[in-house]
Amino acid sequence: MAEADTDSLYGLFEHYYVPVYRPRRIVLDRGVGSRVWDRDGREYIDFGSGIAVNALGHANPVLVAALTEQAGRLWHTSNVFLSEPPIRLAQALVEASGFARRAFLCNSGTEANEAAIKLARRWAASQGRAPEQRVILSFEGSFHGRTLAAVTATAQPKYQEGFEPLPPGFRYSAFNDLAAAEAAMAAGDVCAVLVEPVQGEGGVTPASESFLRGLRALCDRHDALLMLDEIQCGMGRTGPLFAFEGYGVVPDAVTLAKALGGGFPVGALLVGENAAETLQFGAHGTTFGGNPLAAAVALAALRVLDSDELRANVEHQSQALRKALAAINGELNVFCEIRGRGLMLGAQLAPRYAGRAGEILERCADEGLLLLQAGPDVLRFVPALNIEQGDIAAGLTRLDAALRAFVRA
Ligand SMILES: Cc1ncc(COP(=O)(O)O)c(C=O)c1O
Repeated sequence: MAEADTDSLYGLFEHYYVPVYRPRRIVLDRGVGSRVWDRDGREYIDFGSGIAVNALGHANPVLVAALTEQAGRLWHTSNVFLSEPPIRLAQALVEASGFARRAFLCNSGTEANEAAIKLARRWAASQGRAPEQRVILSFEGSFHGRTLAAVTATAQPKYQEGFEPLPPGFRYSAFNDLAAAEAAMAAGDVCAVLVEPVQGEGGVTPASESFLRGLRALCDRHDALLMLDEIQCGMGRTGPLFAFEGYGVVPDAVTLAKALGGGFPVGALLVGENAAETLQFGAHGTTFGGNPLAAAVALAALRVLDSDELRANVEHQSQALRKALAAINGELNVFCEIRGRGLMLGAQLAPRYAGRAGEILERCADEGLLLLQAGPDVLRFVPALNIEQGDIAAGLTRLDAALRAFVRA
């Protein structure tokens, strides 16, 4: 394949892609750890990790070794035959979770949530509950994915508009408002609550402890499943391997993806004891789920992600980031709140800069920093969980320069 320059590749992208994405005019070419280089040889510090995916950085030698070893052995079996990596991955996830009894492996976040939604419906059906008694409750500002049921659970109209008719049996309630959730469940027709312990796309907003614990109690009272979407906030991002550990809440189901494969597509639904036997032979499935390549990488990633060394780094770099963001803000006054847990932090722009996160990201890229937004008003920091002190410091220097240029303009 001939080497093409950035402009011609961008032209091809615009011509051939269904235009659902609007990427920056940067063609990334290679990466090592928390640094990446584009086609023109420009270096960037990566504070976005491919939207909280590359949790162990780019070209991590442990993951590369796992992938190449498996690639030379066996790529795919389908679920008609077994291979060892997905069995070991299911075992490792169930054992690490402390609550789950079984795992269903799939390929993406939305698929994991789709499986959770089907699980909840089947579970309620198996208890003799009529279809109208199988409502799934989710929360304003949530993001659960783009397949039709997951996007219906995603309580943000902008993701749903034009895709009606949406599947019935979903209800929404205000996030972090326990009284509202109680009212939404009062009729007794809710069979499951789907919630992100830390909302990601919705603005990096942690659930309060009283909210998540209160949801657990409401689920117990109404015989509903508490299903946690840890696709963005799980796998060590908030500190513990699972975000729910930080809340002292035991869920009935958890969905995972993103960091699970360290950049290789894979997702999982973990199911606790009470619904573990719900989905029986033929009830659900996917050709690629539990693909040996994905499972081998995820297994290798899990060993690193579930380590004290990594947890200590998340804690340490989280504090460094928070401290530096507060210091920058002390001078420039651009943020009104810095929030989040572990290495999932959000900086809410002060009202006078509302809607301008995209502009700041452009300036960050100009300075050699890849950063994300979470909506138009929030800068989102989700670097690799093994990011080194030097990369955090260098990224912050670049952020500082970008914000100064933004404020001056
Ligand atoms: C919390 C959450 N759930 C689900 C999804 C959907 O995952 P995927 O894009 O892999 O389908 C995302 C993706 O951003 C997410 O952040």
